[in-house]
Amino acid sequence: MLSAYYFLLPFFGELATAANLYATHYSGTINYLAFSGNSLTLTSSTRTGNTLPSWITYDGPGNALYIPDETFYGQPGTLTAFAIGSDGSLMPTNKASTPLGVVATTLYGGSNGKGFIANAHYQSSQVTTFKLPLSNGQPLQTLKYTMAAPGPNRGRQDAPHPHHVFVDPTGDFLLVPDLGADIIRIYQIEKTSGQLKECPGATTPPGTGPRHGTFWSPTGANTSSRIRRGADSTMLFVANELANSVAGWSVSYLASGCLTLALKQTLTPYQGNSTAARGTKIGEIKVKDNFLYTTNRNDKKFAPNDSVTQFTISSAGSLSWTDTTSSYGTYPRTLDINKAGDFVAIGDQTSANVAIVKRDPATGKLTGQAANLRIGTTGTPENEDGVSAVVWAE
Ligand SMILES: *[C@@H]1O[C@H](CO)[C@@H](O)[C@H](O)[C@H]1NC(C)=O
Ligand SMILES: *[C@@H]1O[C@H](CO)[C@@H](O)[C@H](O)[C@H]1NC(C)=O
Ligand SMILES: *[C@@H]1O[C@H](CO)[C@@H](O)[C@H](O)[C@H]1NC(C)=O
Repeated sequence: MLSAYYFLLPFFGELATAANLYATHYSGTINYLAFSGNSLTLTSSTRTGNTLPSWITYDGPGNALYIPDETFYGQPGTLTAFAIGSDGSLMPTNKASTPLGVVATTLYGGSNGKGFIANAHYQSSQVTTFKLPLSNGQPLQTLKYTMAAPGPNRGRQDAPHPHHVFVDPTGDFLLVPDLGADIIRIYQIEKTSGQLKECPGATTPPGTGPRHGTFWSPTGANTSSRIRRGADSTMLFVANELANSVAGWSVSYLASGCLTLALKQTLTPYQGNSTAARGTKIGEIKVKDNFLYTTNRNDKKFAPNDSVTQFTISSAGSLSWTDTTSSYGTYPRTLDINKAGDFVAIGDQTSANVAIVKRDPATGKLTGQAANLRIGTTGTPENEDGVSAVVWAE
Protein backbone atom coordinates (compact mmCIF):
# COMPACT_ATOMS: atom_id res chain seq x y z
CA MET A 1 0.00 0.00 0.00
CA LEU A 2 2.74 2.40 1.02
CA SER A 3 4.72 1.86 -2.16
CA ALA A 4 1.60 2.35 -4.27
CA TYR A 5 0.99 5.76 -2.66
CA TYR A 6 4.62 6.65 -3.12
CA PHE A 7 4.30 5.95 -6.80
CA LEU A 8 0.97 7.77 -7.27
CA LEU A 9 1.63 10.98 -5.36
CA PRO A 10 3.88 12.75 -7.88
CA PHE A 11 1.45 11.76 -10.63
CA PHE A 12 -1.55 13.32 -8.87
CA GLY A 13 0.59 16.31 -7.95
CA GLU A 14 1.04 17.20 -11.60
CA LEU A 15 -2.62 16.86 -12.41
CA ALA A 16 -3.87 18.58 -9.28
CA THR A 17 -5.08 21.72 -11.03
CA ALA A 18 -6.59 20.20 -14.17
CA ALA A 19 -10.36 20.05 -13.90
CA ASN A 20 -13.47 20.32 -16.03
CA LEU A 21 -16.90 21.85 -15.60
CA TYR A 22 -20.27 21.94 -17.35
CA ALA A 23 -22.28 25.16 -17.59
CA THR A 24 -25.70 25.64 -19.16
CA HIS A 25 -26.74 28.84 -20.93
CA TYR A 26 -30.44 29.73 -21.24
CA SER A 27 -30.00 30.16 -25.00
CA GLY A 28 -30.06 26.33 -25.20
CA THR A 29 -26.49 25.12 -24.75
CA ILE A 30 -24.38 23.10 -22.36
CA ASN A 31 -20.73 24.08 -22.36
CA TYR A 32 -17.76 21.92 -21.39
CA LEU A 33 -15.03 24.00 -19.74
CA ALA A 34 -11.42 23.19 -18.88
CA PHE A 35 -9.79 24.81 -15.81
CA SER A 36 -6.00 24.68 -15.61
CA GLY A 37 -5.47 26.37 -12.24
CA ASN A 38 -5.28 29.88 -13.67
CA SER A 39 -7.25 29.81 -16.91
CA LEU A 40 -10.71 28.68 -17.95
CA THR A 41 -11.36 27.74 -21.59
CA LEU A 42 -14.31 26.48 -23.62
CA THR A 43 -13.74 22.93 -24.90
CA SER A 44 -17.12 22.39 -26.59
CA SER A 45 -20.67 23.69 -26.70
CA THR A 46 -23.64 21.38 -27.37
CA ARG A 47 -27.38 22.04 -27.88
CA THR A 48 -29.31 20.67 -24.90
CA GLY A 49 -32.40 19.77 -26.92
CA ASN A 50 -34.78 21.81 -24.78
CA THR A 51 -35.93 25.44 -24.84
CA LEU A 52 -34.64 26.97 -21.58
CA PRO A 53 -32.04 24.71 -19.92
CA SER A 54 -32.29 25.79 -16.28
CA TRP A 55 -30.38 23.25 -14.18
CA ILE A 56 -27.84 20.40 -14.34
CA THR A 57 -28.20 17.20 -12.32
CA TYR A 58 -24.78 15.61 -12.64
CA ASP A 59 -24.19 11.90 -11.94
CA GLY A 60 -20.40 11.53 -12.13
CA PRO A 61 -20.17 7.83 -11.15
CA GLY A 62 -23.00 6.99 -13.56
CA ASN A 63 -21.45 9.07 -16.39
CA ALA A 64 -24.78 10.78 -16.97
CA LEU A 65 -26.35 14.19 -16.67
CA TYR A 66 -29.88 15.55 -16.86
CA ILE A 67 -31.09 18.96 -18.01
CA PRO A 68 -34.67 20.16 -17.41
CA ASP A 69 -36.58 22.87 -19.24
CA GLU A 70 -37.87 26.06 -17.66
CA THR A 71 -39.93 26.95 -20.72
CA PHE A 72 -42.88 28.97 -19.44
CA TYR A 73 -45.35 29.24 -22.34
CA GLY A 74 -46.46 27.27 -25.37
CA GLN A 75 -45.43 23.65 -25.75
CA PRO A 76 -44.45 21.50 -22.74
CA GLY A 77 -40.77 21.34 -21.82
CA THR A 78 -38.28 18.55 -22.44
CA LEU A 79 -36.20 16.82 -19.78
CA THR A 80 -33.06 15.55 -21.53
CA ALA A 81 -30.64 12.81 -20.42
CA PHE A 82 -27.06 12.55 -21.67
CA ALA A 83 -24.37 9.90 -21.41
CA ILE A 84 -20.92 11.35 -20.70
CA GLY A 85 -18.04 10.00 -22.81
CA SER A 86 -14.55 9.44 -21.38
CA ASP A 87 -13.45 12.75 -22.99
CA GLY A 88 -16.39 14.60 -21.37
CA SER A 89 -18.42 14.70 -24.57
CA LEU A 90 -22.20 14.44 -24.23
CA MET A 91 -24.37 11.96 -26.10
CA PRO A 92 -28.15 12.47 -25.83
CA THR A 93 -29.73 9.21 -24.65
CA ASN A 94 -33.36 9.64 -23.55
CA LYS A 95 -35.91 12.37 -22.93
CA ALA A 96 -39.34 13.03 -21.50
CA SER A 97 -41.96 15.70 -22.03
CA THR A 98 -42.63 17.70 -18.84
CA PRO A 99 -45.12 20.40 -17.81
CA LEU A 100 -43.90 24.01 -17.95
CA GLY A 101 -41.39 25.77 -15.76
CA VAL A 102 -38.88 23.25 -14.32
CA VAL A 103 -36.24 25.04 -12.25
CA ALA A 104 -34.57 22.11 -10.45
CA THR A 105 -34.27 18.33 -10.59
CA THR A 106 -32.86 15.61 -8.33
CA LEU A 107 -32.20 11.90 -8.53
CA TYR A 108 -33.76 9.79 -5.76
CA GLY A 109 -34.89 6.30 -4.75
CA GLY A 110 -34.15 2.93 -6.27
CA SER A 111 -31.39 0.74 -4.86
CA ASN A 112 -28.68 3.38 -5.33
CA GLY A 113 -30.49 6.73 -4.97
CA LYS A 114 -30.61 7.05 -8.77
CA GLY A 115 -33.71 5.10 -9.73
CA PHE A 116 -35.96 8.13 -10.33
CA ILE A 117 -35.84 11.86 -11.08
CA ALA A 118 -38.05 14.57 -9.54
CA ASN A 119 -38.76 17.99 -11.14
CA ALA A 120 -39.78 21.22 -9.37
CA HIS A 121 -42.12 23.20 -11.66
CA TYR A 122 -42.00 26.81 -10.46
CA GLN A 123 -44.40 28.15 -13.04
CA SER A 124 -47.02 25.40 -13.06
CA SER A 125 -47.14 24.81 -9.25
CA GLN A 126 -46.28 21.12 -9.20
CA VAL A 127 -43.68 18.40 -8.77
CA THR A 128 -43.43 15.56 -11.26
CA THR A 129 -41.40 12.36 -11.04
CA PHE A 130 -40.15 9.94 -13.70
CA LYS A 131 -38.59 6.50 -13.58
CA LEU A 132 -35.06 6.25 -15.02
CA PRO A 133 -33.98 5.64 -17.67
CA LEU A 134 -36.49 8.06 -19.21
CA SER A 135 -38.78 6.42 -21.73
CA ASN A 136 -40.62 9.42 -23.19
CA GLY A 137 -43.68 8.34 -21.18
CA GLN A 138 -45.99 10.00 -18.68
CA PRO A 139 -44.80 11.12 -15.24
CA LEU A 140 -44.80 8.43 -12.56
CA GLN A 141 -46.44 10.91 -10.17
CA THR A 142 -47.78 14.46 -10.42
CA LEU A 143 -48.17 16.48 -7.21
CA LYS A 144 -50.22 19.64 -7.86
CA TYR A 145 -50.31 22.48 -5.35
CA THR A 146 -52.94 25.13 -4.69
CA MET A 147 -53.34 27.84 -2.07
CA ALA A 148 -56.44 29.57 -0.73
CA ALA A 149 -55.14 33.15 -0.99
CA PRO A 150 -52.04 34.94 -2.29
CA GLY A 151 -49.10 35.46 0.10
CA PRO A 152 -47.85 38.85 1.35
CA ASN A 153 -45.53 39.29 -1.66
CA ARG A 154 -48.30 39.70 -4.26
CA GLY A 155 -45.98 39.67 -7.27
CA ARG A 156 -44.21 36.44 -6.36
CA GLN A 157 -46.72 34.66 -4.13
CA ASP A 158 -49.75 34.60 -6.45
CA ALA A 159 -49.61 30.77 -6.45
CA PRO A 160 -47.44 27.95 -5.08
CA HIS A 161 -43.98 28.03 -6.68
CA PRO A 162 -41.86 24.97 -5.82
CA HIS A 163 -38.27 26.09 -6.45
CA HIS A 164 -36.02 23.14 -5.53
CA VAL A 165 -36.16 19.37 -4.97
CA PHE A 166 -33.48 17.55 -2.98
CA VAL A 167 -32.96 14.44 -0.87
CA ASP A 168 -32.05 14.26 2.85
CA PRO A 169 -28.80 12.56 4.01
CA THR A 170 -30.56 9.22 4.62
CA GLY A 171 -32.00 9.14 1.10
CA ASP A 172 -35.44 8.45 2.59
CA PHE A 173 -37.00 11.91 2.22
CA LEU A 174 -37.43 14.45 -0.54
CA LEU A 175 -37.88 18.14 0.27
CA VAL A 176 -39.42 20.91 -1.82
CA PRO A 177 -39.07 24.57 -0.75
CA ASP A 178 -42.16 26.36 -2.11
CA LEU A 179 -41.41 30.07 -2.59
CA GLY A 180 -45.03 30.98 -3.38
CA ALA A 181 -46.73 29.12 -0.53
CA ASP A 182 -44.11 29.69 2.24
CA ILE A 183 -43.86 25.95 2.91
CA ILE A 184 -41.02 23.46 2.89
CA ARG A 185 -42.84 20.39 1.59
CA ILE A 186 -41.66 17.01 2.90
CA TYR A 187 -42.16 13.58 1.28
CA GLN A 188 -41.25 10.09 2.38
CA ILE A 189 -39.65 8.13 -0.49
CA GLU A 190 -40.85 4.62 -1.27
CA LYS A 191 -37.51 3.53 -2.68
CA THR A 192 -38.65 0.62 -4.82
CA SER A 193 -41.67 2.19 -6.49
CA GLY A 194 -40.38 5.78 -6.44
CA GLN A 195 -43.71 6.94 -4.99
CA LEU A 196 -43.62 10.05 -2.78
CA LYS A 197 -45.81 9.98 0.33
CA GLU A 198 -46.67 13.34 1.87
CA CYS A 199 -45.54 14.22 5.41
CA PRO A 200 -46.65 17.44 7.16
CA GLY A 201 -44.63 20.31 5.68
CA ALA A 202 -42.78 23.05 7.61
CA THR A 203 -44.41 26.47 7.40
CA THR A 204 -42.16 29.54 7.15
CA PRO A 205 -43.15 33.02 8.38
CA PRO A 206 -45.37 34.69 5.70
CA GLY A 207 -43.40 36.37 2.90
CA THR A 208 -40.22 34.32 3.48
CA GLY A 209 -40.12 32.74 0.01
CA PRO A 210 -37.93 29.65 0.61
CA ARG A 211 -35.96 28.92 -2.59
CA HIS A 212 -33.13 26.38 -2.16
CA GLY A 213 -31.94 24.13 0.68
CA THR A 214 -28.99 22.00 1.74
CA PHE A 215 -28.41 19.56 4.60
CA TRP A 216 -25.47 19.55 7.00
CA SER A 217 -24.24 17.16 9.70
CA PRO A 218 -21.03 17.49 11.73
CA THR A 219 -18.01 15.94 9.99
CA GLY A 220 -18.04 12.16 10.45
CA ALA A 221 -21.77 12.07 11.16
CA ASN A 222 -22.41 10.37 7.92
CA THR A 223 -24.26 7.17 8.67
CA SER A 224 -28.00 7.02 8.17
CA SER A 225 -28.51 5.23 11.48
CA ARG A 226 -26.72 7.94 13.51
CA ILE A 227 -28.60 10.66 11.67
CA ARG A 228 -31.93 8.87 12.13
CA ARG A 229 -31.31 8.35 15.85
CA GLY A 230 -30.66 12.08 16.18
CA ALA A 231 -27.18 11.33 17.50
CA ASP A 232 -25.89 14.29 15.48
CA SER A 233 -27.19 17.82 15.12
CA THR A 234 -28.33 17.48 11.52
CA MET A 235 -29.52 20.79 10.12
CA LEU A 236 -31.30 22.00 7.02
CA PHE A 237 -30.15 25.41 5.77
CA VAL A 238 -32.53 27.27 3.48
CA ALA A 239 -31.98 30.34 1.28
CA ASN A 240 -35.08 32.53 1.57
CA GLU A 241 -35.30 34.50 -1.68
CA LEU A 242 -38.07 36.93 -0.69
CA ALA A 243 -36.90 37.67 2.87
CA ASN A 244 -33.23 37.65 1.75
CA SER A 245 -32.22 35.55 4.70
CA VAL A 246 -30.82 32.14 5.56
CA ALA A 247 -32.71 29.87 7.94
CA GLY A 248 -31.30 27.06 10.05
CA TRP A 249 -33.84 24.28 10.71
CA SER A 250 -33.07 21.37 13.04
CA VAL A 251 -33.99 18.00 11.59
CA SER A 252 -35.72 15.17 13.51
CA TYR A 253 -36.80 11.73 12.40
CA LEU A 254 -40.05 10.57 13.99
CA ALA A 255 -40.75 6.97 14.95
CA SER A 256 -43.96 7.32 12.91
CA GLY A 257 -41.81 7.63 9.80
CA CYS A 258 -41.77 11.34 8.92
CA LEU A 259 -38.98 13.90 8.99
CA THR A 260 -39.81 17.14 10.82
CA LEU A 261 -38.16 20.55 10.90
CA ALA A 262 -37.92 23.17 13.66
CA LEU A 263 -36.81 26.72 12.88
CA LYS A 264 -33.75 27.63 15.01
CA GLN A 265 -32.14 30.68 13.43
CA THR A 266 -32.60 33.31 10.73
CA LEU A 267 -29.77 35.57 9.55
CA THR A 268 -29.25 37.95 6.66
CA PRO A 269 -26.15 37.36 4.51
CA TYR A 270 -24.43 40.51 5.77
CA GLN A 271 -22.21 41.51 8.68
CA GLY A 272 -24.11 42.52 11.80
CA ASN A 273 -27.28 40.96 10.34
CA SER A 274 -27.81 44.10 8.28
CA THR A 275 -30.67 44.10 5.81
CA ALA A 276 -30.13 43.33 2.13
CA ALA A 277 -30.18 46.24 -0.32
CA ARG A 278 -33.49 46.67 -2.12
CA GLY A 279 -33.65 44.42 -5.19
CA THR A 280 -31.41 41.71 -3.73
CA LYS A 281 -32.51 38.12 -4.33
CA ILE A 282 -30.63 35.33 -2.56
CA GLY A 283 -29.91 32.61 -5.11
CA GLU A 284 -27.90 29.49 -4.33
CA ILE A 285 -26.95 27.91 -0.98
CA LYS A 286 -24.18 25.30 -0.62
CA VAL A 287 -22.38 23.57 2.26
CA LYS A 288 -18.76 22.39 2.38
CA ASP A 289 -17.58 20.89 5.70
CA ASN A 290 -18.44 23.43 8.40
CA PHE A 291 -18.99 26.38 6.07
CA LEU A 292 -22.11 27.57 4.29
CA TYR A 293 -22.25 29.87 1.23
CA THR A 294 -25.02 31.93 -0.35
CA THR A 295 -25.02 33.88 -3.60
CA ASN A 296 -26.58 37.31 -3.28
CA ARG A 297 -28.00 38.30 -6.65
CA ASN A 298 -28.28 41.98 -7.49
CA ASP A 299 -26.95 43.30 -4.15
CA LYS A 300 -24.22 45.19 -6.08
CA LYS A 301 -21.91 44.94 -3.03
CA PHE A 302 -18.89 44.93 -5.32
CA ALA A 303 -20.50 47.07 -8.03
CA PRO A 304 -21.02 46.29 -10.78
CA ASN A 305 -20.59 42.80 -9.30
CA ASP A 306 -22.73 41.13 -6.66
CA SER A 307 -21.55 39.00 -3.74
CA VAL A 308 -21.15 35.61 -2.10
CA THR A 309 -21.45 35.18 1.68
CA GLN A 310 -19.58 32.68 3.82
CA PHE A 311 -21.04 31.55 7.16
CA THR A 312 -19.30 29.30 9.72
CA ILE A 313 -21.36 26.44 11.19
CA SER A 314 -20.74 25.57 14.86
CA SER A 315 -20.71 21.95 16.06
CA ALA A 316 -24.27 22.51 17.31
CA GLY A 317 -25.33 23.69 13.86
CA SER A 318 -25.64 27.42 14.44
CA LEU A 319 -24.49 29.92 11.83
CA SER A 320 -22.30 32.96 12.14
CA TRP A 321 -21.56 35.42 9.35
CA THR A 322 -17.89 35.21 8.34
CA ASP A 323 -17.27 37.10 5.09
CA THR A 324 -18.89 38.59 2.00
CA THR A 325 -16.79 38.64 -1.17
CA SER A 326 -17.26 39.47 -4.85
CA SER A 327 -19.21 37.19 -7.19
CA TYR A 328 -17.09 38.53 -10.11
CA GLY A 329 -20.17 39.12 -12.23
CA THR A 330 -23.86 39.94 -11.88
CA TYR A 331 -26.81 37.78 -10.73
CA PRO A 332 -24.82 34.82 -9.35
CA ARG A 333 -27.52 32.19 -9.83
CA THR A 334 -25.40 29.10 -9.29
CA LEU A 335 -22.35 28.06 -7.27
CA ASP A 336 -20.50 24.76 -6.95
CA ILE A 337 -17.53 23.86 -4.73
CA ASN A 338 -15.06 21.24 -5.98
CA LYS A 339 -14.42 18.07 -3.95
CA ALA A 340 -10.97 19.15 -2.79
CA GLY A 341 -12.56 22.37 -1.57
CA ASP A 342 -9.83 24.56 -3.05
CA PHE A 343 -11.90 26.17 -5.81
CA VAL A 344 -15.47 27.47 -6.16
CA ALA A 345 -17.24 27.96 -9.49
CA ILE A 346 -19.71 30.85 -9.57
CA GLY A 347 -22.16 31.06 -12.47
CA ASP A 348 -23.10 34.71 -12.93
CA GLN A 349 -26.34 34.60 -14.87
CA THR A 350 -26.72 38.08 -16.35
CA SER A 351 -23.06 38.83 -17.04
CA ALA A 352 -23.01 35.24 -18.47
CA ASN A 353 -19.66 34.25 -17.02
CA VAL A 354 -18.23 31.48 -14.89
CA ALA A 355 -15.76 32.78 -12.28
CA ILE A 356 -13.42 30.33 -10.57
CA VAL A 357 -12.54 31.60 -7.10
CA LYS A 358 -9.78 30.26 -4.85
CA ARG A 359 -10.89 28.76 -1.52
CA ASP A 360 -8.90 27.90 1.59
CA PRO A 361 -10.22 24.45 2.59
CA ALA A 362 -9.24 25.00 6.27
CA THR A 363 -10.86 28.39 6.84
CA GLY A 364 -13.46 28.22 4.07
CA LYS A 365 -12.40 31.73 2.94
CA LEU A 366 -12.77 32.75 -0.69
CA THR A 367 -9.44 34.35 -1.51
CA GLY A 368 -9.79 35.89 -4.98
CA GLN A 369 -10.45 35.06 -8.58
CA ALA A 370 -8.33 32.42 -10.37
CA ALA A 371 -10.03 32.54 -13.79
CA ASN A 372 -13.11 33.86 -15.54
CA LEU A 373 -14.84 33.06 -18.82
CA ARG A 374 -17.79 34.62 -20.64
CA ILE A 375 -20.11 31.95 -22.06
CA GLY A 376 -22.49 32.90 -24.85
CA THR A 377 -24.39 36.18 -24.90
CA THR A 378 -24.90 38.30 -21.79
CA GLY A 379 -28.40 38.52 -20.38
CA THR A 380 -30.67 41.28 -19.15
CA PRO A 381 -31.47 41.69 -15.44
CA GLU A 382 -34.54 39.72 -14.23
CA ASN A 383 -34.84 37.70 -17.45
CA GLU A 384 -34.45 34.02 -18.24
CA ASP A 385 -31.23 34.43 -20.19
CA GLY A 386 -27.47 34.14 -19.55
CA VAL A 387 -25.80 31.35 -17.55
CA SER A 388 -28.25 29.09 -15.68
CA ALA A 389 -26.14 26.40 -13.97
CA VAL A 390 -22.54 25.32 -13.39
CA VAL A 391 -21.14 22.06 -11.95
CA TRP A 392 -17.66 20.60 -11.51
CA ALA A 393 -17.35 17.44 -13.61
CA GLU A 394 -15.72 15.19 -11.00
C1 LIG B 1 -17.85 8.44 7.32
O1 LIG B 1 -16.77 9.33 7.24
C2 LIG B 1 -15.54 8.78 7.63
C3 LIG B 1 -14.54 9.90 7.71
O2 LIG B 1 -14.62 10.71 6.57
C4 LIG B 1 -15.18 7.68 6.63
O3 LIG B 1 -13.96 7.09 7.00
C5 LIG B 1 -16.27 6.63 6.63
O4 LIG B 1 -16.03 5.67 5.64
C6 LIG B 1 -17.63 7.27 6.37
N1 LIG B 1 -18.69 6.28 6.55
C7 LIG B 1 -19.70 6.16 5.69
C8 LIG B 1 -20.70 5.12 6.04
O5 LIG B 1 -19.80 6.82 4.68
C1 LIG C 1 -31.50 38.86 11.64
O1 LIG C 1 -32.36 39.36 10.65
C2 LIG C 1 -33.42 38.48 10.37
C3 LIG C 1 -34.13 38.98 9.12
O2 LIG C 1 -34.44 40.32 9.25
C4 LIG C 1 -34.33 38.37 11.58
O3 LIG C 1 -35.40 37.50 11.31
C5 LIG C 1 -33.49 37.79 12.72
O4 LIG C 1 -34.27 37.75 13.89
C6 LIG C 1 -32.26 38.62 12.95
N1 LIG C 1 -31.39 37.87 13.84
C7 LIG C 1 -30.70 38.45 14.79
C8 LIG C 1 -29.83 37.54 15.60
O5 LIG C 1 -30.74 39.64 15.00
C1 LIG D 1 -16.13 42.49 -11.29
O1 LIG D 1 -15.84 41.24 -11.90
C2 LIG D 1 -15.02 41.35 -13.05
C3 LIG D 1 -14.94 39.97 -13.66
O2 LIG D 1 -14.21 39.14 -12.86
C4 LIG D 1 -13.66 41.89 -12.64
O3 LIG D 1 -12.84 42.02 -13.77
C5 LIG D 1 -13.84 43.23 -11.97
O4 LIG D 1 -12.61 43.68 -11.47
C6 LIG D 1 -14.83 43.11 -10.83
N1 LIG D 1 -15.10 44.44 -10.28
C7 LIG D 1 -15.16 44.67 -8.99
C8 LIG D 1 -15.39 46.08 -8.57
O5 LIG D 1 -15.06 43.78 -8.16
